Amino acid sequence: MTDAETVIEARGVGLSYRDGQRHVTALHDIDLAVARGERVALVGPSGSGKSSLLFVLGGLRRPTHGDVLLLGRSLVGGADATADVRRRHVGFLFQEPFLVPYLTVRENALAHVPTAEASERVEALAVSIGIAHLLDERPHRLSGGERQRAGLLRALAAGPDLILADEPTASLDHATGRAVLDALAAHARDAALVVATHDLSMLDAVHRVLRLADGRQTPG
Ligand SMILES: Nc1ncnc2c1ncn2[C@@H]1O[C@H](COP(=O)(O)OP(=O)(O)O)[C@@H](O)[C@H]1O
Ligand SMILES: [Mg+2]
Repeated sequence: MTDAETVIEARGVGLSYRDGQRHVTALHDIDLAVARGERVALVGPSGSGKSSLLFVLGGLRRPTHGDVLLLGRSLVGGADATADVRRRHVGFLFQEPFLVPYLTVRENALAHVPTAEASERVEALAVSIGIAHLLDERPHRLSGGERQRAGLLRALAAGPDLILADEPTASLDHATGRAVLDALAAHARDAALVVATHDLSMLDAVHRVLRLADGRQTPG
């Protein structure tokens, strides 16, 4: 995929958290570039830095050093600029979808992108991921797998260039998790996807694996 457009790039990214008096270094010198259409898994034990890297790639945390480029533009400069960039270009999916309980599935999906284009996309996506009949329901009426699909609908509503998913199948049974990941992969085609997972059976859905241990990239 060397000729494809690079969507997200981390250059020498490090991240430290201040925890009381201590500094916890969560990431050391990470280099990563993900092209449009490419799907990358982040794997590594709990505490290895997977979530931290996703936050940095999505502009939710500013790296302590290094740079992050989304579509060639640095996310590290002004904090205010990244909020708008995130809304337009990045879709997030977490272990729990955090849907707003008093909004319907459709309203949840469109809350941050109330445009006609997003609305059309959400209607079509809901059909293809099998939750069209649930668009007018509130989240508490849904099963875990249905709720995660509703979260996927929200993540994809703006037509993101980058999709960041943090253990999106971890609270689902295997078959349901598989179906959510397959839906994610199928609809990430025009985007770059980075998914943190510790379920190694999900790795056949990606093109490449980045292994982390203690915040460092490890070979193999
Ligand atoms: N908000 C935080 N404050 C302090 N330390 C944190 C914070 N978030 C994560 N960490 C630490 O950073 C390291 C990496 O955590 P994390 O990115 O959550 O790893 P993973 O997602 O692989 O489990 C761990 O040592 C964790 O304890
Ligand atoms: Mg994590």
